[in-house]
Amino acid sequence: MRKFLCAALGACAAASLMVHSAAAETKVGLLLPTSGNYAALGKEIDDGFVMALEEAGMAGDFTLVREDSEAKPPVGMAKARKLVLQDNVDAVVGIVSSAVLGAVRDFIDGSKVPLIVANAGNDEATGANCSKYIVRVSFSNAQVNRPMGTWMAEHGVKKVYAMAPDYAAGHQMIDAFTASFTAAGGEVIGADYTPFGKTQDFGPYLTKAKAASPDAVFVFYAGGEAISFVKQYDSFGLKADIPLYGSGFLTSPLYVKAEGPAAIGVTTSLHYVPTLDTPENQAFVAAFKAKFDRPPSEYAVQGYDSARVLIEAVKAGAKGREAIAEALSKVSYTGPRGPLTIDPATNNVVQNIYVYETVADGDALTQKIVGTINEVRDAPNGCVLK
Ligand code: PHB
Repeated sequence: MRKFLCAALGACAAASLMVHSAAAETKVGLLLPTSGNYAALGKEIDDGFVMALEEAGMAGDFTLVREDSEAKPPVGMAKARKLVLQDNVDAVVGIVSSAVLGAVRDFIDGSKVPLIVANAGNDEATGANCSKYIVRVSFSNAQVNRPMGTWMAEHGVKKVYAMAPDYAAGHQMIDAFTASFTAAGGEVIGADYTPFGKTQDFGPYLTKAKAASPDAVFVFYAGGEAISFVKQYDSFGLKADIPLYGSGFLTSPLYVKAEGPAAIGVTTSLHYVPTLDTPENQAFVAAFKAKFDRPPSEYAVQGYDSARVLIEAVKAGAKGREAIAEALSKVSYTGPRGPLTIDPATNNVVQNIYVYETVADGDALTQKIVGTINEVRDAPNGCVLK
């Protein structure tokens, strides 16, 4: 009897080992902030990522190693090195801050490890500093903001005051907006860049913006800073006189509830809003709400799509760093945000950009889509993929 049991157990152990090694073949480093101004964004990306793995029934096929980048370049760099050199991951997924992406770019490229960028919009990573190992499924800073400059000029806005945090993303977003806005006849009459992650009181900047008498204020803020900014824009009395526009992270569904009525009437542009009326999105929103009891934001979709492109690559037979990097850029499908393809010229995602207004929906807030710019791709930007 004992012999029989042992034999049976041995067989079971061998079988389960086989299942395990065949299953958890792909090791992924999730490099996201779980502390600091962007902590909530990191959590949301992680939730979307895991949801896609579970939905595909492939959670067991991936081993996840999580590291907190703190959205700080030196920390992000140290953690990237740990994931690639010590944990020996097959792919890195994540990065929220453009500054962190700028810091790790050369290391990723030199290590020949695929990086799926799940947020950071740093234009250079799919522009002059592009790499065949870096594929972005989120957005580029220019991609989200360029359409809004044209849209605002076409909607009668002539003079704008701009504001953003003083780091790569803030500058790139305002630059892209300014270029298209001025090309369409508008004028940016002033701009301020506020210390990133340190500015709690926007009062002095808002006083300056008001004194300049613009038709509108255009900003990029995200995470905790977006909540403070939107609330102070209202409480300092600007909202009543000067309409507020921005890149859509400003009023993300992730934290618009914390902004409250101050967010009503703010118009912004983004690559995803949960109110998109498509079967793919409706199914996604229903599944996300059932799992997390809240509507998904753009960050959730970025995490979800990061997993989906990885899953597609692995299902197509890609194994190991080089093969995964190669396969990622060939993936395309219609998902929650609409059609998604990877631009072979840059490895940046090609996608629709939606202009949306935050409006009241009973006691809650929702996103009303007021414009769609189809299949936006980056303009030629110096990228040579080799
Ligand atoms: C960025 O640093 O690239 C960044 C951060 C947060 C956002 C968008 C872009 O919501």
